[in-house]
Amino acid sequence: HLQIQDLILPSRPELFDFRGVSMTHFFTDNWENVQNFKARPDDVLIATYPKAGTTWVSYILDLLYFGQTSPERQTSVPIYERVPFLELIVPKFVPDQVERLPTSPRLIKTHFPVQFVPKSFWEQNCKIIYVARNAKDNMVSYFHFDSMAMIEPDPGDWNNYFQRFMQGKVVTGSWYDHVNGWWKKKQTSPNVHYMFYEDLVEDTGREIDKLCSFLGLSPSEDERKRITGGVQFDKMKKNNMTNYSTHARMDFKTGSFMRKGRVGDWKNHFTVAQNEEFDEDYKKKMKDPTLQLRTDL
Ligand code: PPS
Repeated sequence: HLQIQDLILPSRPELFDFRGVSMTHFFTDNWENVQNFKARPDDVLIATYPKAGTTWVSYILDLLYFGQTSPERQTSVPIYERVPFLELIVPKFVPDQVERLPTSPRLIKTHFPVQFVPKSFWEQNCKIIYVARNAKDNMVSYFHFDSMAMIEPDPGDWNNYFQRFMQGKVVTGSWYDHVNGWWKKKQTSPNVHYMFYEDLVEDTGREIDKLCSFLGLSPSEDERKRITGGVQFDKMKKNNMTNYSTHARMDFKTGSFMRKGRVGDWKNHFTVAQNEEFDEDYKKKMKDPTLQLRTDL
């Protein structure tokens, strides 16, 4: 029967199989348009499995490109509008957000697995930045997010979610396929920069330097320092333009978007038995020894 929140909040969407990947209609309703997207050569695409550090890297890039030239962006436009979604289409969202971006280059984000990326990004040789996060922390972060984000399927309880994550029955499908698919692509594509959430936590400045050399940017030493300091978790958590507090589709009574921002929080969620089951399954799915994700620092 109908509950009071059903009257106020939209009901949660169903998960279904879309071309071999679990999705909700919010990510597929605009499929034709998205596939026909006309990328510009200077577009920069940020690709991630959900909760791997999308917002963090979006903010870093926005500061690198526009921190000096458009300081007003920093205080008036939320990060999810500065760096809009390629594929997400939800009511009340401006549908062609990417087309309307006033900036050049356009910074665009996607959670698509590599095979779903519109071909024009490859044809135009766009720079693409992929961020991967270790599966255990990624799962924990995703669980908390799905609890508060009403545009996500109901996550159920932790034990149930744990199984579903391993089976790839969450939005954008299997974490294992996602990180491996992009890793494979990176081996043959010099336009893909593959980075790790854990490296960003370990040494943000070093990772910003790598990003800059990939993108051909050369910020001054002062600017580099300012950005490295400004994108630390506590700063972003307090900043209303980066903490999603202005986002209508999240229920901040049950959690926060900038939740913990740590490596190893999985230890507070996984039971010993779950950890063993997880590791066993992980070994079977992660066969490429060149792709290593750290679960500890
Ligand atoms: S989304 O919804 O897919 O765009 O989410 P995404 O931005 O990819 O991931 C959110 C998680 O990233 C953490 N985060 C950070 N960690 C460390 N430092 C900084 N600056 C930072 N910014 C965002 C955020 O806290 C979420 O992780 P958890 O583990 O849930 O805290």
